[in-house]
Amino acid sequence: MKKYTELKDIKDLAQLVDEAIAIKQTPYYFQHLGKNKTLVMLFFNASLRTRLSTEKAAKNLGLEVQILNVNDSWKLEFDDGTVMNADTSEHVKEAAQVISQYADVIAVRAFPSLVDKEKDAQEVVLNSFIKYASVPVVNMESATAHPLQALADVITLEELKTKKKPKVVISWAPHPKALPQAVANSFIEVMQMANVDLTITHPQGYELSDAVVKDTPVIYDQEKALKEADFVYVKNWSSYTDYGKILSQDASWMMTQEKLGNAKFMHCLPVRRNVVVEDAVLDSENSIVIHQANNRTYAAQVVLKNILENIE
Ligand code: CP
Repeated sequence: MKKYTELKDIKDLAQLVDEAIAIKQTPYYFQHLGKNKTLVMLFFNASLRTRLSTEKAAKNLGLEVQILNVNDSWKLEFDDGTVMNADTSEHVKEAAQVISQYADVIAVRAFPSLVDKEKDAQEVVLNSFIKYASVPVVNMESATAHPLQALADVITLEELKTKKKPKVVISWAPHPKALPQAVANSFIEVMQMANVDLTITHPQGYELSDAVVKDTPVIYDQEKALKEADFVYVKNWSSYTDYGKILSQDASWMMTQEKLGNAKFMHCLPVRRNVVVEDAVLDSENSIVIHQANNRTYAAQVVLKNILENIE
C-alpha cells in the first residue's frame, strides 16, 4: 500500500481484514517497522477516536508521533496564484514539503465546508497534501470519505457476523447540526466491497451521490428496510442534493430498541443519545459501538503497517 486516502487503495479487502484481526492478537509484533520513523497527524477539525486510535496504532508499530492542530498554526492557502495579502500566511505547497521533511507518513483530517459542493467534491485539502507532500498520505476523514472508519466497521462486522452473508442496513437518523456525508459514503462503499446484503434507508431528500449508492437498494420506509436486519448502522448526514441543508429533524427516524429487534447496532461515534438513538439501544448488549471504536486502532495499524512496508 503506497497511501490510504480512499478505499480504492485496498487491493484485497478480505485479506486486509484478516491481517487486522491477526494484528489485534499481537499488536507489538511489528514494532521494528516504525523505528526511527515519524507519523505527523494534521487536524483541521476535532477528533477523539481518530486521533487517539491512530496515535496508538502508530506507537504499536514503533513510530514517533507528532500532532498539529492546524487551526493553532499559520492559516494555509490552497488556491494557486492568490495574492496572499489577506488572512492566509502560508501556502500548502511550502507547508506540505516542509512537513514531509519531518514525517515519514502524513495523516490529514479535513471536513467539508458543506457550503460549496463542487469544492468539497474536489477534496482540496487532502488532494493538496497528496500533491505536494513527498511522503505517503493517510485520510483521517476528508470532505467526502472516512476510509479508516469504514475499515474498522468492516473488521467489526467480520468479527461479529453469525452468517456468511448478513443483512446490513444503513439508516439515516435526525441530528440538530448539519453533518458531512463522509461516514455514510465510506460505509456504503466498503459494504459494497464486502459479502453482505446492503440496504439504505433515509427520508426523501437525503439521497446520497449516485456514484456512492450505485445499485444498492434505497427504501424510504425505515420499518420495511429494517426487516430481518442483522446489523443496523445508524448515521445522520445533511442533504447532498440540497447541499449541506437540514431538511428534517423527524424524531420518528431515531433508532429505538423496538425497531432494532435482535440486530446489532453500529455507529461511528460520537453519538447524541435520545436524538440519533435511544439510551436503551446504546445500553443494550446489541450495541457494538465500543467494539467498533476499539477496531479503529487495528484499522489504522494495518494501514500504517502496509504503508511502512512499502517505504524504501
Ligand atoms: N468516528 C470518528 O471519526 O470519531 P472522531 O471524530 O472522534 O475521531
